[in-house]
Amino acid sequence: PGPGVLSGRTVLITSGPTREALDPVRYLTNHSSGKMGHALAAAARDAGARVLLISGPTELPAPHGVETVAVESARDMHRAVMDRVAGADIFIAAAAVADYRPEQSAGSKIKKTDSETALRLVPNPDILREVAALEQYRPFTVGFAAETDALEAHARGKLARKGLDMIAANWVGADRGFHTDDNALEVYWPGGGHTSLARADKPALARQLINLITERYHHAATR
Ligand code: C5P
Repeated sequence: PGPGVLSGRTVLITSGPTREALDPVRYLTNHSSGKMGHALAAAARDAGARVLLISGPTELPAPHGVETVAVESARDMHRAVMDRVAGADIFIAAAAVADYRPEQSAGSKIKKTDSETALRLVPNPDILREVAALEQYRPFTVGFAAETDALEAHARGKLARKGLDMIAANWVGADRGFHTDDNALEVYWPGGGHTSLARADKPALARQLINLITERYHHAATR
């Protein structure tokens, strides 16, 4: 992005996985590395934005010049986003939020027995859907979609169902997406808009996506 294309704007970004506690020593999570969300935060910062990064547990250092809030669970992430969204012009949901959490998190370590056991899971709040549905202070809202099949249909379905301004979709599977250093994105927006961002390392891809978001954001703002 050209320097300054986002100056004066605040960009709120979620990144990384979430951790859903079973007890004080165990949790459910996924393979998200946070690389894409953190790269987006750096790219938005380089475009002149004030950036707030809400990050689940990752190995990555907090990007310089980015206000980073560390969270663990989806409910923590939800609260951290909702507390700050009123000041955001653009929201980018790059986190791989756990869809479910254990119904109960035990206060002390669950003991092993010889019998079978079962886990009851309850749905987590959909942060992206909730932000997109805000009536007041709704930012320009961008989601991600990781799909193993029917990429365009699933991504466009999510775009419409969650009421988003843009969705960035990528294929996931054996050797694609999570934890890799590069990726490719198919980006869709309402009204049939579409762009392909060819395979590149995540920082380069993030710069291109921030460019595209900036363009669509200014387009929406001047309508
Ligand atoms: O519906 P699905 O989980 O595939 O949608 C993915 C998008 O929704 C991502 O942008 C992800 O960050 C966001 N999401 C969220 N809160 C959830 C689940 C997904 O913000 N609980």
